[in-house]
Amino acid sequence: MILDGKATRSIARTEDGKGVRILDQRQLPWEIRWVELRSMDEAAVAIREMWTRGAPMVGATAAYGLAMALAVDPSDEALLAARDTLLHTRPTAVNLRWALDAVGTAVGDLPPEERAEAAFARADAICDEDVELCRAIGASGLELIRALHAQNPGRPVQILTHCNAGWLATVDYGTATAPIYLAHDAGIPVHVWVDETRPRNQGALLTAFELRNHGVPHTVVADNAGGLLMMQGKVDAVIVGTDRVTANGDVCNKIGTYLKALAAHDNGVPFYVALPYTTFDADLPSGDAIPIEERAAEELTEATGPDAEGHVTTIRLTQSPAANPAFDVTPARLVTGYITEKGVLDRIGG
Ligand code: MRU
Repeated sequence: MILDGKATRSIARTEDGKGVRILDQRQLPWEIRWVELRSMDEAAVAIREMWTRGAPMVGATAAYGLAMALAVDPSDEALLAARDTLLHTRPTAVNLRWALDAVGTAVGDLPPEERAEAAFARADAICDEDVELCRAIGASGLELIRALHAQNPGRPVQILTHCNAGWLATVDYGTATAPIYLAHDAGIPVHVWVDETRPRNQGALLTAFELRNHGVPHTVVADNAGGLLMMQGKVDAVIVGTDRVTANGDVCNKIGTYLKALAAHDNGVPFYVALPYTTFDADLPSGDAIPIEERAAEELTEATGPDAEGHVTTIRLTQSPAANPAFDVTPARLVTGYITEKGVLDRIGG
């Protein structure tokens, strides 16, 4: 990722190696604030309260959280308790369980005194692998974008994305955004329609921030605008990330993704889902069984941001009760293809 013109990862160990530093995404794009997490409890709070977020980043942060817990108490009981706490921070993204299992397996047979170091090493490896997976996803998706450009060489390729599946949501590159960054860097003109992604506005605040930093042309649109843009022929492809893909190919992602898939289907616009293998849940047969996170109503009934003087302030948007399901499931039949580290896989099923 390019931040202030410099290549940076969105999570890295602190200088003394005992904690991690992450960007506090609640402050973006208004303030770039790095925070250090120095205990399992701090990692759990950062995930639960969405200082950091996005399926692969949640997994990476939890992996370090487990390592930090083992540095304090490497016993079997402490390992199980820390795993349980971290696993329950957020329910929907399967990367969280995957990462905790990966660290648990790496340390399970070791004597207690060796566990913390091995856990940190496994968490480092998860991060390194995530970068490579996202880079490979980018290379797979680049060919799709190249083909779209060949169909309409006279204008930029128009891509619509939802939420933030960018480098803030991973260790680097992102999943949905990796093909976009690689295409832009390869000189293919790309323009991105960025869904604002209510209620937390990950699109307007985070994806737009990323694209701006990378110099990729983009426009933020209201979540409800995508259907019209597709009908007007202004979208060549939709590319989104995902929190979990089940064995039958159903795709769980940020609330509103399903409506984009329906609109894309109705308008003959290809709908692609970018994911690494760590987001595939072979244990669940279909999307109905995915736990959908219900978040606080205040995310919907209030909005926070700087006023004209730059003072961060919170305002009310409604006086009525609100419900806030944070994810939805797009049936496999609406997915054109899955952009993975192994290439683009066709729709699963009919
Ligand atoms: O609630 P969030 O912001 O964690 O939701 C994130 C998403 O829905 C992303 O699209 C998904 O995690 C993929 S991130 C590569």
